[in-house]
Amino acid sequence: MRFASTVTTALLAAAALTTTSLGLRRVPSSVDSLTVLYPPPQPEPIVVTELPLPPVTLSDQVGSCTPDINPHRTGCILRDSGLQSGNFLPDGKYVTAILSFAGAPAAPDPASIYTGLQLILVKVDGTTFPSGDPWKCVTCGVTAANQAGQNAAMDYPQAFRDGSRVMSGTNIIDCGSAQLASSSCTPANTYIYPIRWNNLADGSGPGGSIRELRIHPDNVHLGFSSISFTTDGKLTEYGYFSRISFNPSPSTGTPLTPRYDLTNVTRLFNPAGLQPITVQGDQISYNPDAISIGELRGFSGRGSEITYVGYPRESSNIDAFAADLTTGKIRRLTSNPEYVDPIDVSPDDKWMIIEDTRGTGRQMFMAGMRGIPPITDLVSTTASSSTRNNGRRRFFEPFLLDRYGDRGTYKGQKLTEAGDNSPGSINDPNWNALADPRWSPDGTRVVYHQEMVISPACGGPNPLPCPTSTASGGRIQRMMMANFTTRKPVQLPPVAPISDVVPWGVPYVPGSAIPTRPYPSQGVYTLKGKVTGSAKVNITENSSKTAILTVAVSYSGYSDDGLNFITGTESVTSTNLSPTLNHVDWYSRLTSTGQALSTKRTSPDGFHLNIDVLLNLFDANGTLTTTINGQVYKQPANGT
Ligand SMILES: *[C@@H]1O[C@H](CO)[C@@H](O)[C@H](O)[C@H]1NC(C)=O
Ligand SMILES: *[C@@H]1O[C@H](CO)[C@@H](O)[C@H](O)[C@H]1NC(C)=O
Ligand SMILES: *[C@@H]1O[C@H](CO)[C@@H](O)[C@H](O)[C@H]1NC(C)=O
Ligand SMILES: *[C@@H]1O[C@H](CO)[C@@H](O)[C@H](O)[C@H]1NC(C)=O
Ligand SMILES: *[C@@H]1O[C@H](CO)[C@@H](O)[C@H](O)[C@H]1NC(C)=O
Repeated sequence: MRFASTVTTALLAAAALTTTSLGLRRVPSSVDSLTVLYPPPQPEPIVVTELPLPPVTLSDQVGSCTPDINPHRTGCILRDSGLQSGNFLPDGKYVTAILSFAGAPAAPDPASIYTGLQLILVKVDGTTFPSGDPWKCVTCGVTAANQAGQNAAMDYPQAFRDGSRVMSGTNIIDCGSAQLASSSCTPANTYIYPIRWNNLADGSGPGGSIRELRIHPDNVHLGFSSISFTTDGKLTEYGYFSRISFNPSPSTGTPLTPRYDLTNVTRLFNPAGLQPITVQGDQISYNPDAISIGELRGFSGRGSEITYVGYPRESSNIDAFAADLTTGKIRRLTSNPEYVDPIDVSPDDKWMIIEDTRGTGRQMFMAGMRGIPPITDLVSTTASSSTRNNGRRRFFEPFLLDRYGDRGTYKGQKLTEAGDNSPGSINDPNWNALADPRWSPDGTRVVYHQEMVISPACGGPNPLPCPTSTASGGRIQRMMMANFTTRKPVQLPPVAPISDVVPWGVPYVPGSAIPTRPYPSQGVYTLKGKVTGSAKVNITENSSKTAILTVAVSYSGYSDDGLNFITGTESVTSTNLSPTLNHVDWYSRLTSTGQALSTKRTSPDGFHLNIDVLLNLFDANGTLTTTINGQVYKQPANGT
């Protein structure tokens, strides 16, 4: 059973269903009606400050972290420290983070433990730990016996609400009965346990590869993603939901050490369920109620929804969605044409922080024209989701949006608006946000981290000169806290454990084959505009008939929203040069009238792009340009 989104349901209830002499099929779910139903909030005061980090040493030579640099002998980091901030501890006074310590003296110097990738806590109230530092390393000096079977990945640190455990990468760091921030949590009583997802019928082996782990707010479930390769070599990623179970003495699989096993695993994809694009006879349709999780991003504050980057609602426009874990009801959280990915919903579900390329113009060349149905996206989503970065350079800025997201002229509030754009300021465009931003448990603050652009994304042949860091020690990463200074702290009861069962997912059976996403078979179809007009869609499979090669669409006065009317042609052919290197041949000749006069056009020889989903390096021949009411949006130059 499928449900319309809350927002759409509310709108349909609010709007009279009429038919006009224009032949409109129904009243559109226009953004303006949404604005009327849920008036957007006024901008609010936001104060952004930088949080303290260990001092910088310029080399990773043994002993380079001298007492001159750190008189407390508690470690140094390199300018490029791999910093990633995590969430707050339950009392809101500390934030978790990972970074690499460098330059420690050799053992048996007590400072020798401050080396390599570690989990730290950072105090956010301007005070210090008993060491005199505003940070504390939790994992430095943990004995080999206490970290048997530890996995290498430490990313996305997330504290549990018990204050004594943190998930970091595919590990859970556990200080037993001691609070992590207290002096009684020491390396001697800290344990690091690996997390294992059993993927074989007999329970043997190291388990499946898991990434992007997110603790559910009930603290007993976990969302994660897994990338795998289909039998024909194509990269796929699915989201999963599971229970986290401590296994003190495993009898199968490796490591055979105390570990956390993922049980009651559900794959959040049903090959037999409604897909975003389906065909019936000679008709093709786009189904906004289909749950299509590109990558799982987390959960709502109270845990009833899962958040994800999903199959687009509008062509080339990558957005965040939420799906109810029980009913499968979908809400589109963002609709700005730019690219969104990291997201955190506030503990009371009323707000969200997103990191988005909006305002930078990065994605407007392909996504700026509104109201194009997501049909060529059957083959172009890899390209449209991979052009957001230039290698390590992000274009993300953090934005505050209320629960109902983009609507009308409301595009959220940039957290760093108060900055002066100067080098090193809070909104210096050369410093961009990285995943994930995180709300404080009382909903008054958000922590996030940023990285400054470095070569080869600047300098040398790149037109962007490399900036000099103004952060202490010349660091290129920094941890920031936004304080919503007029907000009152919220007090919420702990989220009760939710069901192990996600009814719209499929229970995972260890050893079973990874499914492939069904797609419409080769043919020529008609797509009816939800309001008016239609499009002819020509789908061509590749010669082995295992994937779509080309999607060509010809629009005549097509409109899904009654606001934008599309005419013209667009065709995208996608091939994979390697499992991660995508090549697209793109031809657009589209015009839109209605709320804006826009065109989306490729150069006469077409637009040809090579882009690797893991490297994100823009490499194109030809051009793709979108013009909106005379404003021209061009693609980034190669290598920028
Ligand atoms: C068809 O596409 C699939 C998926 O990208 C690929 O594995 C396969 O090699 C392609 N076949 C041909 C003949 O190109
Ligand atoms: C979760 O897994 C456990 C252990 O396999 C099982 O006993 C329990 O019934 C499962 N829960 C559900 C809701 O299926
Ligand atoms: C946030 O701002 C409020 C109001 O200015 C202030 O009282 C509070 O101390 C600030 N919190 C932090 C952690 O800086
Ligand atoms: C559909 O596209 C294929 C090439 O991808 C082309 O050969 C064929 O003629 C097209 N069919 C129609 C009806 O346009
Ligand atoms: C661009 O054209 C050059 C020269 O023909 C070719 O070597 C290169 O592969 C093309 N790149 C793309 C992304 O099509």
